[in-house]
Amino acid sequence: PPPSIGKRWIRPDSATPSEWEAPSFAFAFDIDGVLLHERAPLPGAAQTLALLDYYHIPFILLTNGGGKFEADRVAELNEKLGSNMTTDNFCQSHTPFQELLPEYRDKTILVTGSDYEKCREIMEGYGFRSVVTPGDIFRAAPEVFPFDTVRGGEVGRELPKPLWKPRERKGLRGDDEAGGKTVLMGGKKGGEGEEGEGEEKRLEDHLKIDAMFVLNDPRDWALDVQVFMDLLQSKQGYVGTYSEENNRGNWQGDGQPKLFFSNSDLIWAAKYHLPRFGQGAFQHALVGIWKEVTEGKKELVRTSFGKPHRETYEYAEEMLVRHRGEWLKMKGYGEEDIRGGLKRVYMVGDNPESDIAGANDYDGKGRYGTEWVSLLVETGVFDAARMNFKDGDVRRADVVEKDVADAVKWALRNEG
Ligand code: G3P
Ligand code: MG
Repeated sequence: PPPSIGKRWIRPDSATPSEWEAPSFAFAFDIDGVLLHERAPLPGAAQTLALLDYYHIPFILLTNGGGKFEADRVAELNEKLGSNMTTDNFCQSHTPFQELLPEYRDKTILVTGSDYEKCREIMEGYGFRSVVTPGDIFRAAPEVFPFDTVRGGEVGRELPKPLWKPRERKGLRGDDEAGGKTVLMGGKKGGEGEEGEGEEKRLEDHLKIDAMFVLNDPRDWALDVQVFMDLLQSKQGYVGTYSEENNRGNWQGDGQPKLFFSNSDLIWAAKYHLPRFGQGAFQHALVGIWKEVTEGKKELVRTSFGKPHRETYEYAEEMLVRHRGEWLKMKGYGEEDIRGGLKRVYMVGDNPESDIAGANDYDGKGRYGTEWVSLLVETGVFDAARMNFKDGDVRRADVVEKDVADAVKWALRNEG
């Protein structure tokens, strides 16, 4: 068995009820740069989770990673780390997207990430009923993107509705035909698109996107940026239109789709010895292009989930409180032992901008009033030279330790 770590944490199975009490604290672990480098477990990671399991100390994994079903990622982590986690103690970047279901379940949304089809399946698995990818749009109209894509042509499903195409090119402004009113096709027999001569071409019969979601690090940035920017400048999200409002400087003022990112990580710790760009870099590419398109007149309106954002920590705290109760009951604790509630969460992370800032900002402000102690490890993106934050800076960790094992030892000593 692991080394004894003090009287109060003797193995509950062997102890009599008077000798032990349910831990009133728990851990939230970041993954990349704390437990893994990509798929490779970091030294001490598996043993640390085993130690917490042995002493019945609850924990969750709280990652800005994504792109897989929660159940699949948990199975992969259990296999790599020898742990026995479930989706009850696993929160990844887009897990909280499920909270947007009431608003978008029956609308059409666009998704992107490392694999278009996997991202579509994940969102359909959450319950979104009409999910489209940039690959679907490229398949329906390759002229949308005049270059080869990373994936080549074999992408995408048939679109739920046809794309709007102006009958003929009037410069780049097809908007007078897309003015939202019905327009007569007239002109050539069987004009462009699906209607014949003289039939009305109704904008609402065409593909409209109501929201756009980035689930994890996109691969086909060029195609994704083109499609996202088209939609941000469209008339009410109708693909292929351009809104007149833009010319009046009212950017994103014509019912264009809302834009959601699952995290804003500019960098993360992979196997390479230097930090790699994350989804935040894609977000900044869009922000930079939007600045050019709007001639600096309009900040890109968007919503980011993931650490350090408060909604993510609210979701994580709720998950921890629920998981702690269920898990301790499963370990044989009675209701009376668990009643003390969760008082403190030790957030172990490698990124001051996300893990540390989020924990510090949330400390004491949650629904359960839990104290969040931020522990920064040196096995990820942290660089003491560049990230030497002053007291009071939300990115300054409460504690800095070499690795996850030392961070947990510090916390257990702190619990006495
Ligand atoms: O894509 C993964 C990266 O954003 C960081 O993930 O586990 O360090 O929050 P994590
Ligand atoms: Mg990390």
